Amino acid sequence: MSLRKKAIVTGSNKGIGYALAKQLIINNYDVWLGARDTELGQAAAKKLGANFLRMDVTKTESLKEALKTYSLQNSSLDLLINNAGIALYGQDGPPSTASVQATRDTFAVNFFGALDVTQVFLPFLKKASNSQILNISSALGSLAMLSDTTGPLNSIPLAVGYSASKASLNALTILLAKELGPNGIRVNSVCPGSVNTDMNIAGQLTPDETAKNIVSLILDAGFATGKFAQLNGTYPW
Ligand SMILES: NC(=O)c1ccc[n+]([C@@H]2O[C@H](COP(=O)([O-])OP(=O)(O)OC[C@H]3O[C@@H](n4cnc5c(N)ncnc54)[C@H](OP(=O)(O)O)[C@@H]3O)[C@@H](O)[C@H]2O)c1
Repeated sequence: MSLRKKAIVTGSNKGIGYALAKQLIINNYDVWLGARDTELGQAAAKKLGANFLRMDVTKTESLKEALKTYSLQNSSLDLLINNAGIALYGQDGPPSTASVQATRDTFAVNFFGALDVTQVFLPFLKKASNSQILNISSALGSLAMLSDTTGPLNSIPLAVGYSASKASLNALTILLAKELGPNGIRVNSVCPGSVNTDMNIAGQLTPDETAKNIVSLILDAGFATGKFAQLNGTYPW
């Protein structure tokens, strides 16, 4: 068994997740790259020198299989990054017109997926000392910013499924941080900023730029728990 710190990153065959996996490897983590598509996941893992875990975060059976595979080589987990996420452009939109099914599908990945992955891998997180859970959230899930009638979110179109699922993910962060604090597990949300990926082709940051920032937070022993971090400080919930 490897003595290096172990990390699982969900949805890391591309985009921010892939860049996070890369930065963690650079920082000597033993990375388990989670992806729902075996071919894409294996190819990405091979390119990075990571281990591959097939994980569809919407399917508990897939997560239990992933746990079995992981437990063959590991007895603890130092870092779980709930990164897998979707934004269903065209179907998700203002609450008066958004497809309810699209809203459910968005919650299935962005909220229930993170909850399920966390529950499945929690026994392993509890076996490591100073372990962390990081939920990749979004400023679009900040209730404080959504309700600010003069703030920056007023000038962009907002989608109820995406915002509500990320606000729920933030609530999960707060509750987990309180519950798991006594176990020495830190739990935070982070907004990666506007990042150029398949989800956001207009993003200004590269995945590598944001991943470097996020991994420096992870490596910071002073990184608190129960916070909503962003690139330069914190966001209001
Ligand atoms: N890009 C931004 O500006 C931005 C801003 C704020 C927050 N975020 C958040 O950052 C995270 C990563 O987004 P991204 O921009 O890197 O998007 P992306 O390039 O579209 O990557 C999303 C990843 O999630 C995976 N995924 C989707 N559904 C899944 C499922 N059911 N099970 C497992 N994996 C699944 C995708 O896998 P497939 O390849 O199989 O689809 C892909 O690997 C998301 O949580 C997103 O909400 C992004």
